[in-house]
Amino acid sequence: MFERLELITADSILSLMAAFRADPDPRKVDLGVGVYRDDRGETPVPAAVRAAERTLLERQTTKTYVGPAGNPGFNQEMARLVLGSDHPALTAGRVRLIQSPGGCGALRLGAELIRHASPDSVVHLSTPTWVNHTPLLSGSGLKLERYPYYDAARGAVSFAGMLAAFEQLPPRAVVLLHASCHNPTGADLSQGEWRELLSLVKRRQLLPFIDMAYQGLGEGLDADAFGLRLFCAELPEVMFAVSCSKNFGLYRERAGALGVMCESPAEADAAMSQLVRLARGLWSMPPDHGAAIVHGLLSDAALKAQWVAEVDAMRERVRGLRREVVRQLAEHCPGRDFGFIARHNGMFSLFGITTAQVRELRARHHVYMVDDSRMNVAGLSRTNLEYFARSVAAVLAGGTAR
Ligand code: LMR
Repeated sequence: MFERLELITADSILSLMAAFRADPDPRKVDLGVGVYRDDRGETPVPAAVRAAERTLLERQTTKTYVGPAGNPGFNQEMARLVLGSDHPALTAGRVRLIQSPGGCGALRLGAELIRHASPDSVVHLSTPTWVNHTPLLSGSGLKLERYPYYDAARGAVSFAGMLAAFEQLPPRAVVLLHASCHNPTGADLSQGEWRELLSLVKRRQLLPFIDMAYQGLGEGLDADAFGLRLFCAELPEVMFAVSCSKNFGLYRERAGALGVMCESPAEADAAMSQLVRLARGLWSMPPDHGAAIVHGLLSDAALKAQWVAEVDAMRERVRGLRREVVRQLAEHCPGRDFGFIARHNGMFSLFGITTAQVRELRARHHVYMVDDSRMNVAGLSRTNLEYFARSVAAVLAGGTAR
């Protein structure tokens, strides 16, 4: 049987991780995989998360199964974090969350639910979008299509193009939206654009599936959830996938949740029962450790406040780096305007150079970004910023950095 299998390469992000690890050059700069980094290039476990983990280890007396829906306390706390504790959809009992193995598990489970409820549904993804959206969603058997999202010339959302595409969609089409910190472009909808999109989504009866993997790392924990909260306040049905990887620094623990908002509590209960059955067939029960840490942290006011301050610091570091890299690039590459980087949110920006230039940056200067020129701004630091800007200047000029 297996003789039929072809050898394939990992996706662009995973192969870049491996290539960076294998590069022995001390000057190497990792702007590839989307993990937060501090000024020393490390991806720390936030102190509040470590404290919650210590308490968990001290108090945990069993590792018996929790159940296919995961930790109910985690699901409840995450619903409040995502929607805000007094959100009308929560008060009305119309929202259910199910714990999942990371945001990826949530995306896949959401796709399975859509497929189960409406097998012919088509999911519309932004162009461009995160490379793993395609296998995660199409793996359920759903058909995928694309809508325009990004105007590379302006380094901004192509909102008119997006609206025009949504205007053509049939009722019940599923639109996958990024809540904030769009991956890979870094260009987000403004609050006014979310409002305008809402009236179109309502009028065309589209189903929004909102991916929120970076809450807190764009403009703030509440601001990053603006569109999701607005849609949940105004629409009959919304789905959302949430990840605790980046903002809690829990990457390898695989903690996340899928949220479903339905028209009534009875419909939400039915949807939840289907989700539990689908999850049982996919992974049976989600991993517990990361979610148990998040539950402990969010239900302790002091730890939560400490964590909020840590998320604020991560965000401010990246925002400072954005301003600084624009300044350095303006100095070293005066012929080209990279000012859009400072207008982007979260860890990513689509840098806007060609794949050949990306590869030259990698081969000659040991600067790693994804082939589509997505850069993780958090990988920059005081020690490598100037080297980065010089390397870019050399590649743009067709030469090499000193
Ligand atoms: C990324 O976009 O780099 C991260 O979300 C990591 C991943 O799994 O691709």
